[in-house]
Amino acid sequence: MPRVREPGPQTRHVRIRRRRRRKRFQRFRRFRWRWLQRLYGRQLQRLSLTVREPVWAEIDLDALGHNVRQAAKMAGPARVMAVVKANAYGHGSVQVARAALANGAASLGVARAGEGELLRAAGITAPILIFGLIAPGEAEKVLDLGLTPAVFDLEQAAALAGLARKHPAGVHLKVDTGMGRLGFSPDRPEDILKAAGLPGLRLEGLFTHFATADDPDLSYAEWQLERFLATDRLLREAGFAGYTAHAANSAALINLPAARLDMVRPGIMLYGYHPAGSPAGNLRPVLSFKALVAQVKAVPAGFRVGYGSTHVTPASTLLATLPVGYADGFSRKLSSLGQVLIHGRRAPVLGRVCMDMIMVDVGHIAGVRPGDEAVLYGEQGDEAVWADEVAEKTGTISYEVLCAVGARVPRIYRDTLAPEES
Ligand SMILES: Cc1ncc(COP(=O)(O)O)c(C=O)c1O
Repeated sequence: MPRVREPGPQTRHVRIRRRRRRKRFQRFRRFRWRWLQRLYGRQLQRLSLTVREPVWAEIDLDALGHNVRQAAKMAGPARVMAVVKANAYGHGSVQVARAALANGAASLGVARAGEGELLRAAGITAPILIFGLIAPGEAEKVLDLGLTPAVFDLEQAAALAGLARKHPAGVHLKVDTGMGRLGFSPDRPEDILKAAGLPGLRLEGLFTHFATADDPDLSYAEWQLERFLATDRLLREAGFAGYTAHAANSAALINLPAARLDMVRPGIMLYGYHPAGSPAGNLRPVLSFKALVAQVKAVPAGFRVGYGSTHVTPASTLLATLPVGYADGFSRKLSSLGQVLIHGRRAPVLGRVCMDMIMVDVGHIAGVRPGDEAVLYGEQGDEAVWADEVAEKTGTISYEVLCAVGARVPRIYRDTLAPEES
């Protein structure tokens, strides 16, 4: 018989202590609730239950699915490799990869082995090509996980071939046709043929990357494509067959139909942006960046705002402080330049962007209160501030604006994953 310990008689002293502790906890919860209500006011009712942070990014996976289907439709018989490197351009690689595959992408492209490993750990079994360098210590794991390396020079190809055990390692051979970055030179066909024929390797793909496919003058991209097709012919004439030839990024997919080949590799257009920064036809931006208003204060003329007091109010106004800053990816270059949306109207950033806070002028917007939702990138009412506008203001490209959304910003996913007609 197992021995059961009888609960000892509770002393009056212990019971009183427990009751006091319970009451203290209840008092704390009541206080916390009143404090939250004061801080966030009516917004508490309106906020989705998923918003539990002062700053967040909303990822619209339906928009992503729509963009993937647009790319697939444009690519025609060519397959789509969804480029999900750099945490899917800041959108969250696992969720984006799943949504892209559910909407017609056949495979995924990443820059690093660790990015592929993360996708495999999430149970994604689709082919994954690693575009970039695989460190010597990562190569075995890459092969074990069934990730596909890109080979770009003879020495690296030979090292990889040496690691292949039971079967040859499937690889994509990268040719530098004019990007001036990574890859075999088409002017050294002997290296290309030697690498492709290494006993430990199986040639599954041949690819290149365009430098200027977003340029209105496509002559250089066309020249790159010719060099790529010459390398393709070289390999086929040498007896290599059954591999996938691919070259087109978003810009080439849109601008250079001849580059679609067997497969295309769109990145930025899946996230809703045209590669050249101009508004893309039928694409929908996927990421919105939002924050709650922390404080609103009436300030007189001559009030100094932020580090360096670089802004001094010319007249009395209302100042809203938002709990987001350059540590979240809201560029410091937006100091006294950026605009956010509050109540569907543009509120200019006043003074310097801090690490965790910005101040905006809401003197012209009625009824702004702590807890109201501010949109840093996205739309609200009839207004929109998308990443390409921010990129133009800060002298960069939408890619960088999206990738910069900080790791501490939680991503909240809106999705049905139901492929709809578009
Ligand atoms: C090798 C490769 N392919 C495809 C892409 C996707 O390019 P984009 O985002 O311009 O479509 C990239 C991104 O830079 C890349 O490095």
